[in-house]
Amino acid sequence: MTVCRLLAMTIRALLNATAGLAADYLEALPERPAGWLVDAEELRSRLGGPLPETPADPHEVIADLAADVEPGLVASPGGRYFGFVIGGTTPAAVAADWLTSVWDQNAGLYVCGPSSAVAEEVAGGWLAELLGLPTGVGFGLVTGCQMAHVTALAAARHSVFAGAGWDVGERGLIGAPSVRVLAGAERHITVDRALRLLGFGTGCVTPIPADAQGRMEPSALREAIGAADGPAIVCAQAGNVNTGAFDDLDAIADIAEQAGAWLHIDGAFGLWAAASPAHRHLVAGSERADSWAVDAHKWLNVPYDSGIAFCAHPEAQQAAMGVRASYLIHADPGGQRDALEWNPEFSRRARGFPVYAAIRSLGRSGIADLIERCCAHARRFAESLGEVPDVEVLNEVVLNQVLVRFLDPEGDHDAHTDAVIDAVQSDGTCWLSGTTWQGMRAMRISVSSQATTEADVEQSIAAILRTAAAPQPRERLT
Ligand SMILES: Cc1ncc(COP(=O)(O)O)c(C=O)c1O
Repeated sequence: MTVCRLLAMTIRALLNATAGLAADYLEALPERPAGWLVDAEELRSRLGGPLPETPADPHEVIADLAADVEPGLVASPGGRYFGFVIGGTTPAAVAADWLTSVWDQNAGLYVCGPSSAVAEEVAGGWLAELLGLPTGVGFGLVTGCQMAHVTALAAARHSVFAGAGWDVGERGLIGAPSVRVLAGAERHITVDRALRLLGFGTGCVTPIPADAQGRMEPSALREAIGAADGPAIVCAQAGNVNTGAFDDLDAIADIAEQAGAWLHIDGAFGLWAAASPAHRHLVAGSERADSWAVDAHKWLNVPYDSGIAFCAHPEAQQAAMGVRASYLIHADPGGQRDALEWNPEFSRRARGFPVYAAIRSLGRSGIADLIERCCAHARRFAESLGEVPDVEVLNEVVLNQVLVRFLDPEGDHDAHTDAVIDAVQSDGTCWLSGTTWQGMRAMRISVSSQATTEADVEQSIAAILRTAAAPQPRERLT
């Protein structure tokens, strides 16, 4: 038997064994507590130890890894995980993600993996269509919405400075004309971080007041944008991280257009409303923006990490991102697609494959169904919890986000709400976390997974109400 054949047999056995471990994990999810079960100290003692000096059998490494990390995993691909805005995983996307690692293509350049480049090209076109974006938009597949903001706002930066006669790529920001960024007061923090990374600094933001749902006030934007001249970028939001609310994108697009400003939309999860006939009205006007940031690892239920930056001005995106070197083999202009022309990475995982597989397996109708089911579950949470005395739903549930406050007979509603959140987390039936919304502590429920069923929702509601009736202080696992 040749060494190659032996190696092939070993890897087949290893991957088969790993498939078993993966399936064991997924099959156990419905019965497993939704949160983690051990603290960091326990995990360190399981995983730590001196740097290994010698090789180990891969079977043993993988079996030990799976066993050691299991109690520190959270059941986020399961049906009763409602924390942050964490999507589940569609089976085809998980399987394609495995193959992405096995194929190990460097997706930066077409020549490093033509199939990866073409799958990504196809997936990007499908995504733009699903999200109702103009044909021909530029796109880059990045790690998540954070880097999608960086990519899209880099294109914005290039474009608005170019309009002011300044080549920011070459000359940088020192001595550059000033640019204003106008963004809703309830914008996501990743917008600020992108501005920091891009050298604008968060101080350049003019915060525009938002209403009780977190929607930017268009009249306030109109006034603020008219208060000065010069290049401007407006950052609007489709889907507030707490309430799920949508800015009035059509009105904001009018204002940005009149002022000649670049309009960027943070649509991390909310832009997916465009893929659902029942919710599409929420994003009316979004197609008029100049750039968009969205996640596939949220509502498309692609495994981490997977975000997309879209830009209505491909030339600005390429000018901001493109890179050339003599040792590389670049695609001819107008020919094949080199991903490094569209995103800030150089070498990169071929994350187009799982996106492609998710869209192919769900199809347009499956994606609409996923969005609509999650929203229906969110409404069910709001209706059931909201009708209980001393439980208040704080937001208009227009999408998949629900904010719930638990009133304390003694009057300390914040502390009581936090105690309920803590108790629900330690109960383990479901997992969710808290936030401060307009000065009030609230439980956040985000329904973002294809795995969530009506039974999961009913079980979770029962667990929330059971623990709310007598919240026990929990033994904190950090
Ligand atoms: C509205 C919004 N924007 C941006 C982000 C950041 O997304 P990511 O964690 O994928 O970078 C989130 C995350 O929840 C979000 O809800």
